[in-house]
Amino acid sequence: MLNFSFHNSTRIHFGEGQIEAIKKEIPTDARVLMVYGGGSIKKNGVYDQVSQALCEHEWFEFSGIEPNPQYDTLVKSLAIIKEKKIDYLLAVGGGSVVDGVKFIAGAALFEGDDPWDIIAKQQRIQKALPIGAVLTLPATGSETNQGAVVTRNGHKLPFSSPLVRPQFAVLDPAVTLSLSDRQVGNGVVDAFVHTMEQYLTYSVNGKVQDRFSEGLLQTLIEEGPKALAADTKNDMEVRGNVMWAATMALNGLIGAGVPQDWATHMIGHELTGGHGIDHARTLSIVLPAVMKVRREEKREKLLQYAQRVWNIQKGTEDEQIDQAIEKTEQFFVQIGVPVRLSDVDLNESHIEGLITNLKQHGMVKLGENRDITPQVSEQILKMAL
Ligand code: NZQ
Ligand code: ZN
Repeated sequence: MLNFSFHNSTRIHFGEGQIEAIKKEIPTDARVLMVYGGGSIKKNGVYDQVSQALCEHEWFEFSGIEPNPQYDTLVKSLAIIKEKKIDYLLAVGGGSVVDGVKFIAGAALFEGDDPWDIIAKQQRIQKALPIGAVLTLPATGSETNQGAVVTRNGHKLPFSSPLVRPQFAVLDPAVTLSLSDRQVGNGVVDAFVHTMEQYLTYSVNGKVQDRFSEGLLQTLIEEGPKALAADTKNDMEVRGNVMWAATMALNGLIGAGVPQDWATHMIGHELTGGHGIDHARTLSIVLPAVMKVRREEKREKLLQYAQRVWNIQKGTEDEQIDQAIEKTEQFFVQIGVPVRLSDVDLNESHIEGLITNLKQHGMVKLGENRDITPQVSEQILKMAL
């Protein structure tokens, strides 16, 4: 196992009715800005629950954060933060809202010239407004981690700071009942691929991390389809298990002390930035191709994945790996996400532009060995056709 320091300070309130925990979490003298997206929270009762919980606080609101949060929208919030002397941000939504709020938290107190430098120049932020999160879409893990992804003019780029990790997160599985099947499926796949990015590398004998990861993968394989099936989709146990798996998949725990890949995500970001494909749907297209192209580098872990996650015991090593890749694709198809570029109407002519963007964004040494060059990314994208 590799050396590591692990710390996750987000206090989690899990379960039905936990939105009222906000009341005690946010200091009563705070001036709060509730930040949300396109308005789903007004239709499903979450806005009312949050308003009720904030009834003793002085609070304001900022809405309109879009999926794949846009820089131009986020910076509009800075005026109200200044004007109303906001000192606490409450994100109410999915990963896009939580990520957007992380950027706002840093931008509001940024002392440099241009808040975009936080991302473009990876300029470290020195201060950030405190954040709380009410999660409405289990997927990204953003509610307890320190990462965020922001888009500007088609450039979708990540940043990370311990200062933007939410102080608390409310995970109420009941609020996920209003999600469309598409968003439920996207969430399951995003969490699955987060786990794979930290698991499917090379072995460092991290037994705890491996078995936690295998448990999360198996949970998503079991519960994901149930969260979509007519007779089980409203089952709160199913929703709760999916929600907790998604948080655990990217809260830092399974990635501590093990190598991490993230090539699927970085290539996927170009598919979203350039072609507007939902985040998870880029991952379901790219991951199987990464497994095929990086088969030799990942051989030992692919075999372990085949045997432990899919319980494939028969056949030669290569046959077991083939079956595991096939099972992964079948699982994605069952969840309703695409597995080929052609499924989203992209073809070979689009690959050059994607590679140009990867280079422009400095994504030229990807993967756990930093050896996924633009040439290898091109092979991966061709494999995904
Ligand atoms: O905007 P509203 O009206 O809220 O609607 C949203 C949005 O249209 C809707 N939705 C959310 N909760 C709902 C709901 N609709 C009905 N009922 C509910 N309970 O779902 C749509 C998608 O929301 P979004 O927040 O975009 O989805 P997701 O949570 O998948 O977040 C994706 C973003 O997170 C980034 C992605 O790149 C993408 O920008 N990621 C962040 C990560 C992190 N911070 O660690 C890691 C991930 O790999 C990912 O990159
Ligand atoms: Zn993701």
